[in-house]
Amino acid sequence: MNALDLLQHRRSTKKFGANVPNQQQLDAILKAGLRAPDHGRLKPYHFVVIEQSGMEKYRGYLEQAAKEQDLGDEGIAKAHKLSQRAPMVIGVVAKIAKDIAKVPAWEQMLTAGCATYAMQLAANAQGFETCWISNKWVNGSALREAFGCREFDKIVALVLIGSPQDGTEITTASQTEEIGDFVSYIR
Ligand SMILES: Cc1cc2nc3c(=O)[nH]c(=O)nc-3n(C[C@H](O)[C@H](O)[C@H](O)COP(=O)(O)O)c2cc1C
Repeated sequence: MNALDLLQHRRSTKKFGANVPNQQQLDAILKAGLRAPDHGRLKPYHFVVIEQSGMEKYRGYLEQAAKEQDLGDEGIAKAHKLSQRAPMVIGVVAKIAKDIAKVPAWEQMLTAGCATYAMQLAANAQGFETCWISNKWVNGSALREAFGCREFDKIVALVLIGSPQDGTEITTASQTEEIGDFVSYIR
């Protein structure tokens, strides 16, 4: 799929097959993240790759987040389910520097968001499905600690990654979007 087709047809999915990017493919995904637009060249993010061997620990962090936020048995079950959804996860931390006058926190946060989306697209371009998850999980203190968050850092994404569940084709939208309601012009 060429770049323009991917941009206009990409979809998320929560159903994944078992295959993950190999190291070369993963590096390409991470390098795409590092090319996100970045005011002041701060690179205000850190990526944490959770591989299959780390999923047990990851499940523990999510369960802890559920307990901490009083999400009950249902929350713990959801944490468990989330940890089993995809064979690879990339956590994205926005590393926020508060003392940079020309690049306020919101700009740094957006750069981390752009990096997240770039990684999704780079994964899609190599035949992998993705989904961007945040929810209450990202507030969990065990997950924050495992991701090396400092006080003002924010976990902005858990990017689920894996092969298509059936066959080799990634999920795509059958049609492009209707743009009319979302655009105006100054001419
Ligand atoms: C910042 C951010 C956080 C998100 N968090 C969640 C989430 O916690 N749970 C969820 O089901 N979808 C979440 N989504 C939405 C999905 O990633 C996805 O975009 C949505 O299901 C729409 O699917 P599409 O990307 O195919 O249009 C989030 C999206 C963004 C941009």
